[in-house]
Amino acid sequence: MHPTAALARLCPAELMAHPKNAHPRNAAERMRPALPVDLNLPAALAEPQQWAARLRRRADGTPWIGVCFVCLGNICRSPTAEGIFIEQMKHYPRREQIIVDSAGTSGAHQGAPADTRSQATAHRRGITLRTLSRPILGPDFERFDLLVAMDRSNLGYLERLKPEGSRAHACLLRDFDPDANGERDVPDPYYDGDAGFERVFDMCWRSSEMLGSWLNAVLSADETSS
Ligand code: 4NP
Repeated sequence: MHPTAALARLCPAELMAHPKNAHPRNAAERMRPALPVDLNLPAALAEPQQWAARLRRRADGTPWIGVCFVCLGNICRSPTAEGIFIEQMKHYPRREQIIVDSAGTSGAHQGAPADTRSQATAHRRGITLRTLSRPILGPDFERFDLLVAMDRSNLGYLERLKPEGSRAHACLLRDFDPDANGERDVPDPYYDGDAGFERVFDMCWRSSEMLGSWLNAVLSADETSS
């Protein structure tokens, strides 16, 4: 299937038509639209060049970046964000340089697959969620560069857990949402109906897409500076 057809099947129609995503240069760019100028990233994320300078490298010199999506239970929101990101990444030219995972601030559901409602919502958009819940732990701050929290409560937990001297950075997924309009959280859908899961999917889709563009900007800044 042509990548654009796949996007049309998976992506909300309004995102396809989003003026911020106009004028893609090629198929890969269509899957990974440029960062909108009004994304208004927090200062710590606003300079991809600075991030390029801190990337770790494999033995052959290739830079890589580790991203872990984090919610409370690791059964609804972060598995959805991870599954979407993995799907979108298939079209990224630098996908081999990105490590992705997800975890929960609670271990209450450890070992459990994604919630059946999250699985059903993702399945309707052609995405299979393959996670088994696990808690986020101190060593994750060594494994990952960017810990992407679903809400401010998760973010606060990550900031308290962060070991002294860790260079990992915790942020919110909706820092990357071009349609956030000041909202900061991906709301917990656990006690919601199906509509809540659909809303979470759409937020995760468009935020994850811009996160992918940001990661590409970081990795390509490394190429231009080296
Ligand atoms: P998640 O959703 O944090 O998006 O995985 C939840 C999952 C489980 C519970 C709450 C939220 N719980 O209370 O068990």
